[in-house]
Amino acid sequence: MTPETSTRGATPANADGYATVMRRAIELSLNGPAHDANPRVGCVVLDAHGTVIAEGWHRGAGTPHAEVDALSQLSPAQVRGATFVVTLEPCNHTGRTGPCADELLAAGVARVVFGLSDPGDVEGGGGDKLRAAGIEVVAGVGADDVMAVVRDWYDSAALGRAVVTIKWASSLDGRAAANDGTSQWISGERARERVHQQRSEHDAIAVGTSTVLADNPSLTARMPNGELYAHQPIPVVIGEREVTGERLNSHPRETIYLRTRDLRRALSDLRERGIHSLYVEGGPTLASAFIEAGLADRFYIFLAPVLLGGQKLAVTDIGVSTLSERIDLRVDSTELLGADILITARPASEPAQTHRKEA
Ligand SMILES: NC(=O)c1ccc[n+]([C@@H]2O[C@H](COP(=O)([O-])OP(=O)(O)OC[C@H]3O[C@@H](n4cnc5c(N)ncnc54)[C@H](OP(=O)(O)O)[C@@H]3O)[C@@H](O)[C@H]2O)c1
Repeated sequence: MTPETSTRGATPANADGYATVMRRAIELSLNGPAHDANPRVGCVVLDAHGTVIAEGWHRGAGTPHAEVDALSQLSPAQVRGATFVVTLEPCNHTGRTGPCADELLAAGVARVVFGLSDPGDVEGGGGDKLRAAGIEVVAGVGADDVMAVVRDWYDSAALGRAVVTIKWASSLDGRAAANDGTSQWISGERARERVHQQRSEHDAIAVGTSTVLADNPSLTARMPNGELYAHQPIPVVIGEREVTGERLNSHPRETIYLRTRDLRRALSDLRERGIHSLYVEGGPTLASAFIEAGLADRFYIFLAPVLLGGQKLAVTDIGVSTLSERIDLRVDSTELLGADILITARPASEPAQTHRKEA
């Protein structure tokens, strides 16, 4: 997507007009990197007549935010009295760059229209600051569409940790391996292709130390023709033992070894490194520990139409000793992939949000 397909010349005089401009701001946001410490943000600037006079977007952590990118294209006279339409609430804190709310105030803008509020305790509050300074602020325009773009970043900011997807492939009777431990290719080709696609959609991919010792996994995201996806999730190995995966040494991203069993801390640590989404591939001990700790946000469960019996369960102890303690899931979708079934689900109860502000 390029800025050439511009809405320059559009004249939004009402909320519907802002919705149209917000769609353009969302398009611009998609020019930014999909897997970055910062969210993808786009911005369109309108003059007093509603004509588009600048467009900006954020190119990733350490570079100017979208509002500042747009500001840099305008003279002080153009900015005074302008309306900034931005996908995310202007930030209110100093990180690698200064607060955008202050930049907009100093520039003398007339109005700020934004889609989604910033959920961070520290970063949020830019809208209130602008309002308190007498600037007209319109919030929530196209918020659902913005959310679709920044979902993982938003949830991880609200939770104060990386968002966790648990994936496993098992037989219909819930076994991840046969009794002798053989587990490769329980599911078929289409399911395996989907797994690689899902890997490429996450910032990082985690396994327990025992899986590294047993399988020596490569943890790359590969297309059916064997080529690597453009985005490779960062491999993460969790567990106290000092293990080194031989194949991980040739992964395009450097492996993070988190020598801990404290999963909540591990996830906060990952977020501090700019990792917002984690795809947990097992084995059963690590996946079960995430579930027991209430740290499983999404499930991708691949069920192959085979029966294995025996002891090698896909999920082991998750702290449920009686039926009333069960963990209820809500199924979002079921899909047939060749002979296998993919169930996409999430916990019926929302996880505690440590950082989300009151709306
Ligand atoms: N079918 C599938 O989808 C699938 C996927 C992956 C693996 N597998 C199979 O699963 C087997 C390995 O699974 P596994 O269950 O034995 O081991 P695992 O889950 O890969 O690793 C277990 C280790 O995770 C570490 N760990 C980190 N945090 C923990 C916590 N909070 N609680 C407990 N352990 C924690 C511990 O390492 P330390 O002892 O070092 O602290 C523990 O020993 C392999 O045979 C592999 O082939 C199957």
